[in-house]
Amino acid sequence: MCGIMGYVGPREAAPILVDGLRRLEYRGYDSAGVAVCDGRHLVVRKAEGKLARLSEMLDVDPVPGSSGIGHTRWATHGAPSDHNAHPHTDPSGEIAVVHNGIIENFLALKEELLAAGATFTSETDSEVLAHLVAQEYDGDLLEATRRAVARAKGAYALVVTSSREPGRIVAVRMISPLVVGLGKGEVFLASDIPAILHHTRDIMVVDNGEIVDVTADGAHLQTIDGRPVQRDLLQITWDAAQAERGGYPHFMLKEIHEQPQAVTETLTGRLLDGEPETVVLDDVHFPPGFARALDRIWVTACGTALHAGLVAKEVFEGLLRVPVEVAYAHELRYRDPLIGPGSLTVAISQSGETADTLAAAYLAKERGSRLLAVTNVVGSTLSRTADDLLYTRAGPEIAVASTKAYMTMLVGEYLLALVLGRERGTLDATAAAALVAGLRTLPRVVEETLAREEDIKALAAGFNGHDHVYFIGRGLDYAVAMEGSLKMKEISYIHSEAMPAGELKHGTLALVTEGTPVVVVLTQTAVYDKTISALQEVKARRAFTVAVAYDDDTEIAKHADRVVRIPRVPDLLAPVPAIVPLQLLAYHVAAARGHDIDQPRNLAKSVTVE
Ligand code: F6R
Repeated sequence: MCGIMGYVGPREAAPILVDGLRRLEYRGYDSAGVAVCDGRHLVVRKAEGKLARLSEMLDVDPVPGSSGIGHTRWATHGAPSDHNAHPHTDPSGEIAVVHNGIIENFLALKEELLAAGATFTSETDSEVLAHLVAQEYDGDLLEATRRAVARAKGAYALVVTSSREPGRIVAVRMISPLVVGLGKGEVFLASDIPAILHHTRDIMVVDNGEIVDVTADGAHLQTIDGRPVQRDLLQITWDAAQAERGGYPHFMLKEIHEQPQAVTETLTGRLLDGEPETVVLDDVHFPPGFARALDRIWVTACGTALHAGLVAKEVFEGLLRVPVEVAYAHELRYRDPLIGPGSLTVAISQSGETADTLAAAYLAKERGSRLLAVTNVVGSTLSRTADDLLYTRAGPEIAVASTKAYMTMLVGEYLLALVLGRERGTLDATAAAALVAGLRTLPRVVEETLAREEDIKALAAGFNGHDHVYFIGRGLDYAVAMEGSLKMKEISYIHSEAMPAGELKHGTLALVTEGTPVVVVLTQTAVYDKTISALQEVKARRAFTVAVAYDDDTEIAKHADRVVRIPRVPDLLAPVPAIVPLQLLAYHVAAARGHDIDQPRNLAKSVTVE
């Protein structure tokens, strides 16, 4: 998992590459580098650490040249270091590569190359690719790259350049994402669209198993076995400023505040005026009778997306009366699950590139299940693998900790439940209209919740001196607790656990002592009293209790030390406003600790390796 860039055109390449890498840093940030060709020589500059180090290096000692490749790394093979940083070159220094992903047979290839006398300067799998391309090179970089990748196994994207053919870059996609941006007399390559959006809106998505030959005049796409490919250009309408911080100290806070807009986008065009019970999802086309005959829904995802899946389970089972299994994709892919043609698999992924989620999705398809993707990234691998598609439309999410993508996943799930419930006959027009009416209020409700940020900021101080935090809830509140807890641990680095409120007394209560923060989510009327009992149990151990509850809950202040209020919504929709205070809490605890919130240690935005 890394970010890769390429540029060919009339301008100086290095500043363009560094700028693109800055926008890709969310994919990894333990080292960075560029290789630039001045027409005769390739010059490589690379450094361990964040991109700023490379940038400083280039300021002091610039590399002239109008074509080049760049990389920001998240280590898989070989620790973060200067020598493991990309680009990697062949021993002659004439061929340079940047690579995202894993070469599974690199050890065998490396042994073969070593036996033939090659020497290596890094521990990476990527360096073997530079050697292979050099070995195959006979004056045509495209053909050499094609022959080299025929020997490599794995899931990766590769960008190659050579001083022997200045102004030419060749790139290959084997699963890991790659896009080409076409400008006027210049061409860009990148791992994703926001990296090059401010240069061009004409994007060509490179598909799996394709190779692209790039010069300043354009990009020619072929399958890896040499068949020409015609690909329509995607016209991207995102505002480039959307991908910038917009005045907030961190992308995460900006993205939390973008949630009302994101929810509006998710709903736009999908709820019909004059037909209060109808939802239209353009890319969801179940065959006639499919919804009625459905025997099971599988939901698969990782991390935050999995937590959105926990909400889906409650919502789908409640409204569709069908069993729902929620499975971590990294578990599901190695199980022998009872997925079959009667089932629908819903794969949820912000990026649409998470390797485990893709593998689980492929498995479900192989077993005959219909595959529906809930994803945020247009043109992502998951979106192009699925039978049905629901784009969440959260816009680019840059902070590693997911917020607006999560919320729009929830909204997408309600829309899906409405479509399926109506087709299945388990949701009558009145109930559907009530749910639609509730959905329409969500942007305002989220806005109102955000307006209470100062209260939550004040609360954050109470968490700072603690090493352990617990989040509890029942039903949908448990799903929200799981996500709140993940947010807390990933950016504040405070150990945090979530569990169903009733589970606490079966072990974890032993860890609750005087002052231990326990966050209780309390929006589900049917189990309210039961959760209050769990709250009492932790109170009895003198925990510091914070409850998330509705504005009109007059009971809760008698039980909890602090209450964070959210506007009243139907219980089914409560996860949408209830997650907001937990996102803000995690953010302000982490901010008070001075953490690198947008790029927490050891994490990366898109986990495209196993
Ligand atoms: C946490 C977070 C991760 C991702 C997970 C799946 O804030 O963002 O847990 O949710 O890596 O990523 P996607 O949704 O891209 O498949």
